[in-house]
Amino acid sequence: MGILDKHKVLEKNATLLLVGALGVVTIGGIVEIAPLFYLENTIEDVEGMRPYSPLELAGREIYVREGCYVCHSQMIRPMRDEVERYGHYSLAAESQYDHPFQWGSKRTGPDLARVGGRYSNEWHVDHLVSPQSVVPESVMPKYSFLLNRDLEPTYIADLMSTHAVVGVPYTEEMIASATADFEVQVNPDGDWDGLVERYPGAVVANFDGQPELTEMDALIAYLQMLGTLVDFSTFEPDASR
Ligand code: HEC
Repeated sequence: MGILDKHKVLEKNATLLLVGALGVVTIGGIVEIAPLFYLENTIEDVEGMRPYSPLELAGREIYVREGCYVCHSQMIRPMRDEVERYGHYSLAAESQYDHPFQWGSKRTGPDLARVGGRYSNEWHVDHLVSPQSVVPESVMPKYSFLLNRDLEPTYIADLMSTHAVVGVPYTEEMIASATADFEVQVNPDGDWDGLVERYPGAVVANFDGQPELTEMDALIAYLQMLGTLVDFSTFEPDASR
């Protein structure tokens, strides 16, 4: 009996085939999953990564609330066309503090993983108020209402504590300073030394140009830091893994 004939026995008996398939899937699953239990960490630590500042975190909430992820991914794939267009491919560590992550695969608009610093704050305001005013053929909706929605830091410390529960390394000091850090990030004349010490590289600016602290400020603070934390001129992948 040739090997194909032997296989025929399996193919003709549904129960045998089911048991066989189950066996193969189980072995494959164990081979893939078991090593993960013996690794201390599946995410390589990368210099420069820090939790979101309170204002950035609030901006991220607005990003999720408005469903920006429906049209934008935040994961640059390690393929040449992607890297040439968007910059260094995304590292796992760059989304390690994202709950939930925003990788996505739907790209009606461009990937935003490294949009931070690419445009001015004024450009972002113009673009969010009316995308078509800067990119006439854009199908992105208008978000001008964000300019009129004042944002209070009432829930920010709780939000940070919640993120700490799932592993984001917010310290007690960070949580205690949450409200002050939240407000000073839009005030370049304020005393923001502590903020920048706790969140290196945080951009301090009156993002939307209005005296009030609005949802627009928070969203732009978030956009402006995306992908800026790791310095890729000095980054070297850990070859020991
Ligand atoms: C219906 C799909 C859609 C939604 C929803 C959407 N966008 Fe866009 N976005 C686009 C498209 C298309 C472009 C490219 C044209 C343009 O710049 O407007 C774009 C461009 C952008 C850019 C410029 C990126 C670059 O590298 O040039 C930013 C920033 C941006 N969107 C942010 C947002 C944010 C923040 C939200 C949520 C508040 C959002 N988008 C929601 C479709 C969308």
